[in-house]
Amino acid sequence: MCGIVAYIGDQQAAPIILDGLTRLEYRGYDSAGIAVSEKKTVRVARAVGRVRHLRQALPKKFTGTSGIGHTRWATHGPATEENAHPHSSADGRISLVHNGIIDNAAELKAELVAAGVPFTSATDTEVVAHLIAAVTAPTLEQAVLEVTKKLEGTYGLAVLDTEHPDRIVLARSGSPLIIGVGKNGTHVASDIAALTPHTTSVVHLEDGELATVTASGFTTFTHDQSDTSRPPTEVPAESAHQELGEFAHHMRKEYWEQPASAARALKGRLEERFGTARLDGLNLDARAKRAIRRVKILGCGSSYYVGQMGAQMIEELARIPADAEPASEFRYRNPIIDPETLYVAVSQSGETADTLFAIDEIKRKGGQVVGLVNVVGSSIARACDGGIYLHAGPEVAVASTKALTNMALSFGLLALDLGRIRDLSIADAKRIIDGLQAIPGQIDEILRQEDRIAEVAKPLSASASLFFVGRVRGFPVAREGAQKFKEVSYCHAEAYQSSELKHGPLALISAQLPTVAIVPDDELVQRNVGALHEIAARGGPLVAITHAGVDLSGLTAERIDVPKNEVELDPILLTIPTQLLAYHAALALGHDIDKPRNLAKSVTVE
Ligand code: F6R
Repeated sequence: MCGIVAYIGDQQAAPIILDGLTRLEYRGYDSAGIAVSEKKTVRVARAVGRVRHLRQALPKKFTGTSGIGHTRWATHGPATEENAHPHSSADGRISLVHNGIIDNAAELKAELVAAGVPFTSATDTEVVAHLIAAVTAPTLEQAVLEVTKKLEGTYGLAVLDTEHPDRIVLARSGSPLIIGVGKNGTHVASDIAALTPHTTSVVHLEDGELATVTASGFTTFTHDQSDTSRPPTEVPAESAHQELGEFAHHMRKEYWEQPASAARALKGRLEERFGTARLDGLNLDARAKRAIRRVKILGCGSSYYVGQMGAQMIEELARIPADAEPASEFRYRNPIIDPETLYVAVSQSGETADTLFAIDEIKRKGGQVVGLVNVVGSSIARACDGGIYLHAGPEVAVASTKALTNMALSFGLLALDLGRIRDLSIADAKRIIDGLQAIPGQIDEILRQEDRIAEVAKPLSASASLFFVGRVRGFPVAREGAQKFKEVSYCHAEAYQSSELKHGPLALISAQLPTVAIVPDDELVQRNVGALHEIAARGGPLVAITHAGVDLSGLTAERIDVPKNEVELDPILLTIPTQLLAYHAALALGHDIDKPRNLAKSVTVE
């Protein structure tokens, strides 16, 4: 979603902030802005579009050694220069950037307007700048404290004050902010990716905390003004690698990284001798695992679809009832939280607001939650009682690929672990371990078919609409395939159970509506192939993502064969060609693949 960067030190702030914003651009990219402070003067520049447009719009004299910057993903008001951050108070004293949504902004604005305060934007953020300026307090910290008490909703705030040029004040509630201690000053960002070029020594601000950052360090404190300052911790060096190298797009780079990233997800986690997985980070002993009666998986978008794959693996291998649900819906249906259920939150970014709120709901009602999370130290990772880090490495493309594969592998590990303390035999466990170990190499085999998959993708990109179909284990693959395709190609793609086609959607089949079918070589193969015949009989073009042994004779279908693994793990490999189909369709259409329109990498608002 939106990105925040701030710096105060002995260097020029603008180049550092612009570089940080470029690194965060994948989080929100409809407008950007920056404010720098020098000798009690703050200069502000804002532009619609990308950070490069902001760079071009920057006045020649834009000097100062402290500043704040923002990339925006519009929530309140369209993407215009007036609505871009930073927002300033009418007297220009206060300038601030904000991530999140102020729910009571309309009421607060009405009071300010009644008092004669002029507004220049349609955002919820501008209210906060005017409110801070209106407080009579001896310090900026006290003014920010007083105002945040009035705010309902979520915020990560970075505030500059011309009266206090030696500091930037931060406040966090539900929207991440990280402080980085560098050699030449103190850095702030909403995402670790903007900090790692300067420092790997960081402190994550907690919800309800505020901070003062100065050129020489920082202090953190709570609303009751207790000092919570603590020494920084080191973030893993892997967070630092974000360069594109020989690739034209991060999405392609990231799906090509999968043989290596998948191997990292498994490294040190398979106990071949006992036929189980070693998942110490779950913080669950054998007794606690044995007491689990149900598993409920929560995630959003693609993470939810992989959660459906995971539920299937857990039911099959551990024989524990399991299901997945969109985290965004969970808390609004007043869910019954059961102490014998293991709740699993799944997230690449670890910052998805909907998933965080679902975790809050579970914990408030006494449930236990473990996380499958990629970003180390992220809000979701810290909110969970334990978990499995995905070790996919930084993912920059908005369309997730390698992190999803590692989520699916981690579910394989979790299913193995839970299965082995129940009824999964050692022979079956060893079969699964061999299967998991084969996956990195098998992904590589699929990626080597890229040229052919690109050819298959081209005619698909010319279709206004597509079906992705599969059933049982193949259905989450179809859902994720459709999601990825529409996300980057902007073609309408709908996932259906192939068994359900005849109950309605078959009416849509025609020569203009291609179907991508997931056809694993499993106990349902004959029925799946039967559905393909029903589509072909109605003139529907077909692409089958399948296994070499599957007989498609009598059908005109483009087939993409993936290597065979164990039936329970096949969905992981069947998903890989859908990533390549989506990428090459979007490439053929000339889209901005890494930053699809209207989307953002990390959705930190509800
Ligand atoms: C699709 C995609 C999104 C995310 C979703 C959850 O490619 O990336 O659907 O899966 O926004 O994000 P995380 O996993 O960061 O919680």
